[in-house]
Amino acid sequence: MCGIVGYIGVKEKRNFLLSGLKELEYRGYDSAGIAVLKNGEIDSFKATGKLSHLDAKTKNYSSSGFGIGIGHTRWATHGKPTEINAHPHWGKFSYVIHNGIIENYKEIKEDLLKDGVEFLSQTDTEVIVHLFEKFIRNGETAFSAFEKTVSSLQGAYAILLISLKEPDVIFFAKNAVPLVIGKSTDNEIFFSSSDAPLIGWVKEVMYLEDGQYGWAQNHSITLLKNTTSQSLKMQPLTLDKISAQKDGYRFFMEKEIYEQSLVVGETLMGRIKGNSVVLDELSHINFDNINAIKICACGTSYHAALTASYLFERLAKVRCNVEIASEFRYKTPLLDTTTLFVVISQSGETADTLEALKMAKNRGMTTLAICNVDNSSIVRTADFTLLTRAGIEKGVASTKAFATQVITLWLFTLFMGEQKKTIPSELMTEEIEALLRIPLALHVDEAIHEKLHRLSKRYLHGHGFFFIGRDIFYPLALEGALKLKEISYLHAEGYPAGEMKHGPIALADSELFTIALMPKTLLYDKMKSNVEELSARDSTLLVISPETFELADDFIKTKAHIHPMGEFFEMMLITQLLALEISIRLGNDVDMPRNLAKSVTVE
Ligand code: AGP
Repeated sequence: MCGIVGYIGVKEKRNFLLSGLKELEYRGYDSAGIAVLKNGEIDSFKATGKLSHLDAKTKNYSSSGFGIGIGHTRWATHGKPTEINAHPHWGKFSYVIHNGIIENYKEIKEDLLKDGVEFLSQTDTEVIVHLFEKFIRNGETAFSAFEKTVSSLQGAYAILLISLKEPDVIFFAKNAVPLVIGKSTDNEIFFSSSDAPLIGWVKEVMYLEDGQYGWAQNHSITLLKNTTSQSLKMQPLTLDKISAQKDGYRFFMEKEIYEQSLVVGETLMGRIKGNSVVLDELSHINFDNINAIKICACGTSYHAALTASYLFERLAKVRCNVEIASEFRYKTPLLDTTTLFVVISQSGETADTLEALKMAKNRGMTTLAICNVDNSSIVRTADFTLLTRAGIEKGVASTKAFATQVITLWLFTLFMGEQKKTIPSELMTEEIEALLRIPLALHVDEAIHEKLHRLSKRYLHGHGFFFIGRDIFYPLALEGALKLKEISYLHAEGYPAGEMKHGPIALADSELFTIALMPKTLLYDKMKSNVEELSARDSTLLVISPETFELADDFIKTKAHIHPMGEFFEMMLITQLLALEISIRLGNDVDMPRNLAKSVTVE
């Protein structure tokens, strides 16, 4: 996702801005830019693609002596990854960079257009700088104009703004997106969206809280919240670079598991308005001509697809068929143009998925990519794209990419049900309410994590794991087993619970570990019978359920939910953490498991 840096001081501005952005590179981006204000003039540079392009563009640029600078890496949400859409965005005398999404940008933009303001980009960010300048034109000082601007914005933001009206000042604001301020012993002031870029430059930092904003000048920082002044709570910065990127977690995978609550919020952002799902990206699909959906994907993305197949048929009443991309390609499939062809991919580069997509396109099908990486091969090939907005995923074993895929597919199901008028409005309300509760369901309960850590020592051997579930908990069982396999190298299978008695139950004995997903909101009694059958054959049972189950050898109690998807996401977290803890105990490389690659670009 996007990265932000800022600097006030006498050193060469370009050095910190570019090196800081380099530290944020791992978050993923598709364009970058900087602006420097010195001696009453602003210089700005932007480039698409890698930071090396911006580096090359600014090679001969120097800005030593007192001045201020801001820099940004952009991960496109509104508008394509072009140079015009890259940050900073400018008005007549001010420049802004922003992470997050301004949810009410359309309303603000309409008002500004009526005032004759001209917009250059398709971004939500550009409204910030024009709104700020409008308040100044109306007689406000730069400080009150910034305060008024911030109070007009809804959504998530970390903002840095510079203006010729106050040439020594960086204005800043933070809400729901991280922003850190650092101060050096030479009285320089630094900004960044994480502490990693600040290591080596400052000894103390302050992590801003939601709703805080203010302005920084040479030597001084004014911090406010709801127009009331706040004290600066600086703390020592003692991290090394890699652990800073991991934010104190032992592995990137662990960080990504903990991040899910936040990134799912990003996936949802701007996509729900009242009782409706808004997917502007799909406004040109004529759903009257679509009678069915076929989804192709691999690995974890395939499990997200399988989960969605239950949702499409149950909620949107649209036939949905899911295939593993490498199978689909060679089966001489029957395809027709009234079926929407959907591919799902975290990386956007998976060879089999890409080739399946090309096949569908060649047959004249309308194609949609659900992907985490904008501008990837799959995104460039598909007719339409929904970005999952998980931010870059470093752990090879996918976690937050899966969560955001399922959320995007759920949104798409509801959107399609609305377009085809197959979803009653009361059901729509229930679904939207359930969707909005997911970020909360994805908060990691430290006590459960601790319990999984303790339990994990009992699951380091045995002749296999069966993860079992029914309905949407069956693809979740497949995903839980895949996670465990990938990072523990133990044999694990996901199975539909009702199928165990048709063969696999022959394996049951005390050395067979069954991980039973027993939600209360969906088929609890059916699932209970299946688990009892395994218990009767002496399988060791780890039950995950909100309902105490006396036959369980180990039990993880989940919270009460009123919607199956709430249970789904809480159980997903638990299976991810279980795999993580087993892998750590076995001493494996959690983030880079043997034999696996993050992007599978070969067939
Ligand atoms: C997930 O943990 C795996 N690393 C793998 O199964 C992955 O989901 C699969 O290779 C598909 O990748 P994609 O989503 O990038 O297309």
